[in-house]
Amino acid sequence: MSAHRVLGIETSCDDTSVAVLEDGRKLRSHLIAAQDLHRLYGGVVPELAARAHLELLPAMVRRALEEAGIAPHQLTGVAVTRAPGLVGSLVVGVAFARAYAYALGIPVVGVNHIEAHLHSATLEHGESRWPAIALVVSGGHSELVEVSGFGRYLWLGSTLDDAAGEAYDKVAKRLGLGFPGGPPLDALAAHGNPAAFDFPRPLRERPGYDFSFSGLKTAVATVLESCGPPPYSEPLLADVAASFQAAVVDSLATRTLRAVDDRGARALNLGGGVACNRGLRERLEAECRARDLPLRIPSPRLCADNAAMVALVGSWLLERGPQDEAGLEVVASLEETGLALTSPA
Ligand code: KG4
Ligand code: ZN
Repeated sequence: MSAHRVLGIETSCDDTSVAVLEDGRKLRSHLIAAQDLHRLYGGVVPELAARAHLELLPAMVRRALEEAGIAPHQLTGVAVTRAPGLVGSLVVGVAFARAYAYALGIPVVGVNHIEAHLHSATLEHGESRWPAIALVVSGGHSELVEVSGFGRYLWLGSTLDDAAGEAYDKVAKRLGLGFPGGPPLDALAAHGNPAAFDFPRPLRERPGYDFSFSGLKTAVATVLESCGPPPYSEPLLADVAASFQAAVVDSLATRTLRAVDDRGARALNLGGGVACNRGLRERLEAECRARDLPLRIPSPRLCADNAAMVALVGSWLLERGPQDEAGLEVVASLEETGLALTSPA
């Protein structure tokens, strides 16, 4: 039987990514262009992100095919992120994917970006055991989901306010660490005392699996204000970073492990940029070891926004046959996609 070769396209936010995945398993090429221009503005500027995707995509697709060693006509399908995300950025990706697939006479499917994060660990770790708990933590989302297979999701929890990565980015900005703030804050935290400040663990005593990070951000601001005007000393910044990180990791880990224990999970899968966090990895590694539970964390390129995970979910969708027009509809919010069901579908 001839190979299935799916071109994956991801343009939901500020990373342009293209991948070629063969037979749902073999990543033949994978390119990610992080749009550095947003650093100048301290956050993602939607209009600039959409323009940059438009400029980058044609050359990146050409290059991805070259690296994969295949010609366009050897592709058997195209998969593109269609939701959730910045509408202008999503429209660029979907319009490109539709035109490209039309020109080649091959099918195109729209992929839910969060569903792709739920399964990204599969690319390196193989098929998960079910049921699994998946924690997706990024700049836009903090989602805790029970996954019983492809398309079988029970939404357990989400953030009530800021996403975990958003809290990192905002606190990092206050500490003068630039954007995106997660990686430098994580690095700085390694040099500080995590017990220096007793930052709140919101919702800790409440049952359930939801997260909240906005109070934590305010608590950091209050501590800094009490220390007088900037610049702050390096040891103070490191202590604030370490204490902030301890609170975030504690919030994420307690809720995740509660879900693991309550739901009898047989694997824990992570996804999203915050899954790169050193503190979170260490804590979950120790807890999963104690439970003899497989912890499946993708490598950093596959944690962050990437087209490989889009091609993976796209391959599964293509196996199911043609999608209707609604499958390619661009939608900004996760809620509107109908994926995040809180009772079994
Ligand atoms: O998944 P991602 O690349 O894009 C979104 O869909 O948002 O996640 C980016 C987010 C940013 O908020 C970034 O600060 C955060 O992930 N991040 C981290 C780390 N690396 C990236 N947060 C904490 N620790 C890290 N090591
Ligand atoms: Zn993402």
